[in-house]
Amino acid sequence: MKTSLTGIKPTGIPHLGNYFGAIRPALELAQECRSIYFIADYHALTAERNPETLNAHIYDVTATWLACGLDPQRTIVFRQSSVIEVFELTWIFACIVATGQLERGHSYKDALAKGEAPNAGLLNYPLLMAADIILYDTDFVPVGNDQSQHLELARDIAIRMNHLYGEKTVVVPQAKLAATPQVPGLDGRKMSKSYGNSIPLIVASKELHELVIKIKSDSTPLEQPKEPEGAHAFELFKAIASKAESQEVARKLRAGGYGWGHLKKELFERLDSDLAPIRERYHDLRDDRKRLDDILENGAERARVKARETISRVRRAVGIDAKKP
Ligand code: TRP
Repeated sequence: MKTSLTGIKPTGIPHLGNYFGAIRPALELAQECRSIYFIADYHALTAERNPETLNAHIYDVTATWLACGLDPQRTIVFRQSSVIEVFELTWIFACIVATGQLERGHSYKDALAKGEAPNAGLLNYPLLMAADIILYDTDFVPVGNDQSQHLELARDIAIRMNHLYGEKTVVVPQAKLAATPQVPGLDGRKMSKSYGNSIPLIVASKELHELVIKIKSDSTPLEQPKEPEGAHAFELFKAIASKAESQEVARKLRAGGYGWGHLKKELFERLDSDLAPIRERYHDLRDDRKRLDDILENGAERARVKARETISRVRRAVGIDAKKP
């Protein structure tokens, strides 16, 4: 059985783009793989300076993924920071990666381009991510497009490790890009927290309704036929509804007499009924910190077993044998 692994950066409640683009595909992959899904708390520390916020976000995202259907019996769920072996592996990788390769990293370059003074954590971010992946002998990593460059680096590192230290030293991972089309935000650009155009996954009905109404649409009069493809409300509808339902809505739009307001009403109702159970489970879980801690600690224990196996194999391979004095 293959292993799928992904890291979830705790930066607050995920939005619908995260749900369709990352959470749902990762949960589907977990059905057919041995799965390891962790909260990347140390990755979040590159940008988060408020301890209370970081701590709260760790529980927010854990509760969200569980509410979306992540099964902690089947999937190993834990905090990245609970398995310290990942830092040993990060160092070993740091010693075989050229600094230039890290300097070409997207997020690092973007920060420089914005005139920021990026911290060393941001520069080394992809190294820690490669260690996250390779530590657990990962075959597949379900990620969004924005992470492909990091995945390429992880693959390069794995290939280089095997070239330097022997073919079976580590497993070479592979990205699993989600087939879901990009989910548009309220203004039609890609849904992203940084654009302020997102619809949160966990939100009260009333607020959800207000957001859906705000989705940008043109002013074609009600009676006139409309082109569904490319319309933001329709693209969002496509992401959540079945093919048959989307085709029916497309037919109504093209026929005329059916306005964007009608579509938004259908979209809201569909979203609200699909998200209501997730919302309810989320609130139950989020209020039960003990339960979340137990789940995360139980996952960490299982993750450590695997991590120790890999790290002792890698230490031996590079010539640092833990057993020798
Ligand atoms: N960098 C990823 C993100 O921002 C989070 C992450 C950390 C990750 N470690 C990982 C994803 C390992 C996949 C595998 O979303």
